[in-house]
Amino acid sequence: MSVTTAALDPSVCAPLPVLGQDVTVPLVTGGEVVYAALDYAASAPALQRVWDDVAAYAPYYGSVHRGAGYLSQLSTDLFENSRRTVAEFLGCRAEDQVVFTRSTTDSLNLLAAALPADCQVFVYETEHHASLLPWRDARVTYLDAPRTPAQAVETLERALADRDPYGPALVCVTGASNVTGELWPVKELAAAAHAHGARIVLDAAQLAPHHPVDIAELDVDWVAFSGHKLYAPFGSGVLAGRADWLREAEPYLAGGGASRKVSRRADGGVDVDWHTTAARHEAGSPNVIGVYSIASACKALTEAGFDNLVAREQELVSRVREGLAEVPEVQVLSLFGDDAPRVGVISFVVRGWNSSHFAAALSAEYGIGVRDGLFCAHPLVRTLLGSDPQDPGECGAPEAEPGERSLNAIRVSFGAGTPDEHIDRFLRAVSELVRDGARWNYRTEDGRCVPDRGEAARTA
Ligand SMILES: Cc1ncc(COP(=O)(O)O)c(C=O)c1O
Repeated sequence: MSVTTAALDPSVCAPLPVLGQDVTVPLVTGGEVVYAALDYAASAPALQRVWDDVAAYAPYYGSVHRGAGYLSQLSTDLFENSRRTVAEFLGCRAEDQVVFTRSTTDSLNLLAAALPADCQVFVYETEHHASLLPWRDARVTYLDAPRTPAQAVETLERALADRDPYGPALVCVTGASNVTGELWPVKELAAAAHAHGARIVLDAAQLAPHHPVDIAELDVDWVAFSGHKLYAPFGSGVLAGRADWLREAEPYLAGGGASRKVSRRADGGVDVDWHTTAARHEAGSPNVIGVYSIASACKALTEAGFDNLVAREQELVSRVREGLAEVPEVQVLSLFGDDAPRVGVISFVVRGWNSSHFAAALSAEYGIGVRDGLFCAHPLVRTLLGSDPQDPGECGAPEAEPGERSLNAIRVSFGAGTPDEHIDRFLRAVSELVRDGARWNYRTEDGRCVPDRGEAARTA
């Protein structure tokens, strides 16, 4: 997959309005500053459009698929129309199903629970834990970290060639890494999987907010993503794709909504006739606001011109990478190398700095929110840092002496709502901190690096 770099259309290339643009936060050094949210990869701010759509609907809120009243009917229509909007956004095939879940983690766990008997699963060790861990009850093969996209395809082909050719198999791969932002060769991996009779699920948690995802064009069998990373933080996620395995599986949750008919048996038990549609895996009262907010975000991104958003984000990616490259103490983490296409997710370490300390100073002294740690991708980050990927150590904030190798990393991430000023401030902050050091003293409290209190905590 390549990143689209369509010609910029200046009229639509401003950042999209998001909530929180005017929120100020206190600086430990005194005064306040507008918060720079540069942790989109964890959770992106809500699009203003999503918030407005949800607010406009809220007075009409009603139960879904249960209720004869007008607002129940309206809410049910909204819910089902949202399913169609998401299917369109993902370029779903006619026979695909969109199942609403709570998140990517939930979607992948649902698919894991729906695997046919004896299914073999192939997953790279570089995956986010949400993609790495749900398959542990199946026959899993963990694939070594590839160092190029071509090597990723070769590794998969080799593993698939050795598999039992008659049983079902599933490959799980991320579209864009939550650590390096690098794009994985999804289309080529899908072709390799299918050539060996396997299916493939795309973890699009980090791809969908940054790049159009077309399930039919990529020829993947399923796509999973989360609303809260797609500017729709109301607790819903999506699993879209082939209906057959899901239709044949036990319902993910047993309860109302998933069942069509329930009756007592003469022997005292209960007979259940489960739905065969998406409802089979959506038991309980659906989160109509969460689902509607995802549909609203899909529409907003499409109407803004996703290619234009991609092009603007690529400009920001270049600026961040060029800015960081000017600071020799900074090492950007990369699996596939400098030329790999990537989205607005960049992780790095700073020589002589503990990453937690650096992230704390960015927050306390500049009002910039980034993330530090191992980003729920422990084996990958450890490989990139040159530490032992098998190290079972905790992902806390170990103190590193200046000059010592960092045991965790810093991640800056941004997207459709990021103003240029946030990027400029971030780059200025990185070079000032490296050049001048922190202006405050910090200590570790409950595993997190925090500023010391009081005037005495100011460094000389
Ligand atoms: C690549 C990737 N997959 C899956 C997830 C899990 O997403 P969620 O926490 O919304 O379930 C994340 C979250 O950071 C992610 O980055």
